[in-house]
Amino acid sequence: MKSLNVGIIGFGTVGTGVWEVLKNFDNIHVKKIAVKNLNKKREIENFDTSLLTDNPFEITENSEIDVVIEVAGGTQPAFDILKSAINHGKHIVTANKELLAKRGSELFSLAKEKNVIILYEAAVAGGIPIIMPIKTILCANKITKIAAILNGTTNYILTKMDEKELSYETALKQAQELGYAETDPTGDVEGFDAAYKIAILSTISFNKKIDINKIYREGITKITSNDIKSARELGYRIKLIAMGQVLDNGKIDVRVHPMLVAKKHLLAKVKNATNSIMLTGNPVGDLVLTGAGAGAKPTASSVVGDLLVLASELETTNSPLPQAVCNHSETAEQILIGDTYNDYYISLTASNNPGAIGMIGTVFGENNINISTIMQKGINHDNTAEIVVITETAKEADVQNALKELLNSPRIKNINNLLRVMN
Ligand code: HSE
Repeated sequence: MKSLNVGIIGFGTVGTGVWEVLKNFDNIHVKKIAVKNLNKKREIENFDTSLLTDNPFEITENSEIDVVIEVAGGTQPAFDILKSAINHGKHIVTANKELLAKRGSELFSLAKEKNVIILYEAAVAGGIPIIMPIKTILCANKITKIAAILNGTTNYILTKMDEKELSYETALKQAQELGYAETDPTGDVEGFDAAYKIAILSTISFNKKIDINKIYREGITKITSNDIKSARELGYRIKLIAMGQVLDNGKIDVRVHPMLVAKKHLLAKVKNATNSIMLTGNPVGDLVLTGAGAGAKPTASSVVGDLLVLASELETTNSPLPQAVCNHSETAEQILIGDTYNDYYISLTASNNPGAIGMIGTVFGENNINISTIMQKGINHDNTAEIVVITETAKEADVQNALKELLNSPRIKNINNLLRVMN
């Protein structure tokens, strides 16, 4: 395999993992590693600190370096660093989902112009091979749907809320102690991380550019122990689902939100920080890939995998992996959440008066919403009752309208939650 000189941008958990794995490959030579803080203490065996620099452009402009590995994250200065690397003719291997989801199109165009490639297996679902399979062995397929658990932190929190009956706050604290969630957990718990990943997956699966700003996104912060309990009693688990699908009219529906997933569904069985991707294509049918979505070693598996594939290609050609070149000229027509059709879980608090359930049924009926299940368990001390409804498939705009009407009635004290359901 061809010998490659590489520079690494970022030397945190993932960068260190990549460094450790690269030691096993004689043909890959790490020439420089760019870090933010040169003085930070690093507990790495046999590490030559003269490899470190705090100037990433020393790597991107270095004529000896063939490939730049970027595992620093964030959009800036990562964008400027990768732009410089591409302009200097370097191939890129990156794990940066946010950068690709927000500014990938600019980088891919530049890369095409400069005849270099950008590989990013590690950007989506860490150690699970999904980007390269979609671009290579699955290329005979028309992929029409992806439904996935792409964020380990939220899956861990939801699993503990269910299995250990923890509150959201306690489960989040545990996730932070274990190093899954960051001190500011917003990126994970509000669904941003999953949205970046489904934007990338949908773009390559449906061959159309997806606008990250048009992805409907809802996190898990409003999920209560009550929702988890009601879902369990009704035969569901709550999961943060990232989905993308091509509709019959060719429009694209991409979104991230929590869902009640039927316990028999494969995605309901994915626990703790594990990720899972269910992909539907023709002719392949349904595929499910499950594994570690984060962590030093699984992520390094994808980064180093990309690098070694590139090394073997460069042995025979100066235009490696033509499948990896981005040819997405068409922009997807993404639909709004109001135009989607779903089954729903709705939890309401009603005052204890005769006819409350009848009124809910009437308002739903007037808005074309068919009730599949309705549950009320007694009356609370404050003379209210929680009513949980599961609907058949309805249009989101109709459901939102019905809930607005219900809230106008003095009988309905609160809409506690509205979640979508996957059977
Ligand atoms: N923070 C992510 C997760 C991993 O919890 O899955 C990196 O994308």
